[in-house]
Amino acid sequence: MRKQEHQQLQFIGRTREEYYSGKADLDIIKKVKESVNIPVIGNGDIKSKADALRIFEYTGVDGIMIGRAVLGNPWIIRKYY
Ligand SMILES: Cc1cc2nc3c(=O)[nH]c(=O)nc-3n(C[C@H](O)[C@H](O)[C@H](O)COP(=O)(O)O)c2cc1C
Repeated sequence: MRKQEHQQLQFIGRTREEYYSGKADLDIIKKVKESVNIPVIGNGDIKSKADALRIFEYTGVDGIMIGRAVLGNPWIIRKYY
């Protein structure tokens, strides 16, 4: 098997089966962040500045990725700064 080198991970706290149901699991994102030595980008259910701050503070991720909240409204990102 070829060894892969990853430079970054994007991680959503949901299984494939869960799809968009329930809430993204911040604990698993936190565990991933604590387990690797590369930047981790957290994702899932970030719809407000408070959500963004919560995921940064709780999990320690290096960055966030926002999906559905920007659909049709990309300017919402301005509110996160
Ligand atoms: C319209 C749409 C298209 C998406 N396409 C992909 C994709 O091609 N590959 C992927 O890994 N995730 C895809 N996703 C998942 C998002 O990247 C993201 O993980 C998911 O929407 C959860 O983040 P959110 O709660 O901020 O929306 C897509 C999501 C949406 C809404």
